[in-house]
Order: sequence, then C-alpha cells, then structure tokens
Amino acid sequence: MTQNITVTREGLPTEMQALLRDYPRDTWPGHPNFAASIENWMGAHHMFRDLAWLVRRDMERLLDKELDEDVHAERLGRFGNLLIGNLHGHHTWEDRKFFPELRAADRRFAEGLDVLESDHVLLDAQLERLKTASNRLIQLQYLDPAQADGEAPEVLAAATAIEHLLDRHLADEEDLAVPILLHHKLRG
Ligand SMILES: [Fe+2]
Ligand SMILES: [Fe+2]
Repeated sequence: MTQNITVTREGLPTEMQALLRDYPRDTWPGHPNFAASIENWMGAHHMFRDLAWLVRRDMERLLDKELDEDVHAERLGRFGNLLIGNLHGHHTWEDRKFFPELRAADRRFAEGLDVLESDHVLLDAQLERLKTASNRLIQLQYLDPAQADGEAPEVLAAATAIEHLLDRHLADEEDLAVPILLHHKLRG
C-alpha cells in the first residue's frame, strides 16, 4: 500500500524562536560556546540528510532503469541500514539524555521539545515502513522478480517521507537546541 505523509506544521511556534533571534544561525560557528560536541551533533544531522537523499535517489534511479538491480540491492542494504540504525540510536539518545538536559536548562522551550519528540515518533514509523518494504523488495528480487516491481513504489514513498520529515525536523531541532546550548554554555 502506498501512503504519503504530509508535514503540516511550518517551523517552530514563534515563541519557541525567542533565543534564535539572539543567536542567529550565521553566528553559531564563531561563538565561543560553540563546542566541538555541538559541531559533531550537527555533523550527524548532515550525514542523515545525505543518507536519506541517497536512498531516495537510488530508488528513483532503479525505477528509471538507470541502476542495476543487484547494485541497487547492495546499496539499499548498506545505506538503508546505516540510516535506520543510526537514526534510531540518535533519537533514543536525544529523547533520554539530550532533551531532558535542554528542558532542565531552560523551561521556556518545553513545548518546542515536545514537538521534536513527536517528530521522532513520526520518523520512527516511517523508518519501520522503509525497513519492511526494503526487505520485501530485496527478497522478491531474488525469489520472485515479477512481484518486486510492485514493492518498489512503497520503498520510494517511505524514503521520500523520511527525507521530507528529516528536512523539517533537523532544521527545527538545530534552531531550538543550539541557541539554548550557546546561551547556557552547555556541552562544552
Ligand atoms: Fe531529533
Ligand atoms: Fe538530532
């Protein structure tokens, strides 16, 4: 079944951007409280964006017959696993450790952190969908190639949904968290 997901919200509520106005994005890298751990965390986001793009783009290339099935299956197994496994670990750490730390540092932004936690639930559902559809596609390519074509659009739909959700989520998460980290000199 093909099911698309729509991200209806447009950025964080205005009141959640109070600190972002004091710490705009272009000032982050040069700020004395911009710790290496913050840079690494944003680097992980960059990797997730790249992996989601790559999985979605590969799927389009397969459907357009620009990519060999075996090569695609190998790349989907490798990059899909990396995306799913690393994002699960990332979300678990943020929900259990990082967000509580931000919540405790500045109570004004609890509502924004709740929005980000809800994003994780949406993303996790789409990651599960991608895993199930990808496994089915790869198995069918070996066992019953005629059926594999029917599964491909579901993989593409899941990959596209993940890419869109990540685009919104990662930008909002950085806009909320980095100003709190800089303002309260955290993770230095
Ligand atoms: Fe997150
Ligand atoms: Fe994150």
